[in-house]
Amino acid sequence: MELIINKTQNPRQKPDYSNLGFGNYFTDHMMTMEYDEGQGWHNAQIQPYGPIPLEPSANVFHYGQETFEGLKAYKTKDGKITLFRPRENFLRMNRSNERLCMPAIDVDFALESLKALIMLDSEWIPTEKETSLYIRPFMIGTEATLGVKISSSYLFAIILSPVGTYYPEGMKPTNIYVESKYIRAAVGGTGAAKSAGNYAASLKPLKEAKEKGYSQVLFLDGIERKYVEEVGTSNAFFVIDSELYTTPLESGTILAGITRDSTIAIAESQGIKVNEVPLAIDDIFEFAAQGRLEEAFATGTAAVISPIGQLSYNGNDIAISGGEIGKITQSLYDSLIAIQYGDAIDPYGWVEKVN
Ligand code: COI
Repeated sequence: MELIINKTQNPRQKPDYSNLGFGNYFTDHMMTMEYDEGQGWHNAQIQPYGPIPLEPSANVFHYGQETFEGLKAYKTKDGKITLFRPRENFLRMNRSNERLCMPAIDVDFALESLKALIMLDSEWIPTEKETSLYIRPFMIGTEATLGVKISSSYLFAIILSPVGTYYPEGMKPTNIYVESKYIRAAVGGTGAAKSAGNYAASLKPLKEAKEKGYSQVLFLDGIERKYVEEVGTSNAFFVIDSELYTTPLESGTILAGITRDSTIAIAESQGIKVNEVPLAIDDIFEFAAQGRLEEAFATGTAAVISPIGQLSYNGNDIAISGGEIGKITQSLYDSLIAIQYGDAIDPYGWVEKVN
């Protein structure tokens, strides 16, 4: 398929790169392509960033066939542009698409289109500390019908947003509310898919946690409300007796985070034992009481590695690492961002060159 490039005549004003926040600004262009049953993917183009015309009856507005991804591009000190494990994101999108009965994309074509889009908007990649170009590929069902059925047409798009840290507090440890009323996903559901509905369902618990003064929610499993699942938009890690613990992927209720996977690999390379086992929230509080819970953090493309400074569960609060960023958390964060920003050798083949 050919990628048509239609450049903007009205470049947008660049934001103040020292005060970006997360997801507030968008670059000059976006990539789009369409799918129709019987025809497959077609009409791939890079065009000026702007509104997308859709029928009010389009599937996505009513029955929510939607999947998305999140990845980042970086400008290294020598002016090169890189991506971090982009193929993993497009492969994961295809797994999400499969769960949502949506068509697969061609990973190579998506990656080449993304690179062309980034090159066109390369001046939008910020270089300030802790900034990057956040990339949001997404797909929606576009068929105009109110019948509950699999959409016969889709739109795939990629938009770009120069970002700072996800949490306004940056690397300051967050305080997290352990949610025992609402759940995020249940076995057999869509928890492992990166789909809008999962995030819509997390908004009420997040709103209530914020009203209580917490910045995120730690979800527990949907059956017993006992085992740790995810922290809002990211995977959860705990350092207990100097070993790492994180929720296993087998239940299909948590997102298979690419930062989660990278963190595990880096930790193992540093000689840290990683345990992917179900972890009961009562045990975490028990370990904390015994002084064995040393650190906790959350991982995600947006959140990178964010330290957790406090957990609140059923009225009990524990401070972790004295509310400071822990040694292992800091070292994993430093190692990860050094690879991502091109300041350290990448022994894993994770960094993909754009130019
Ligand atoms: C990411 O980390 O890229 C995510 O997709 C989280 C997002 C919902 C902000």
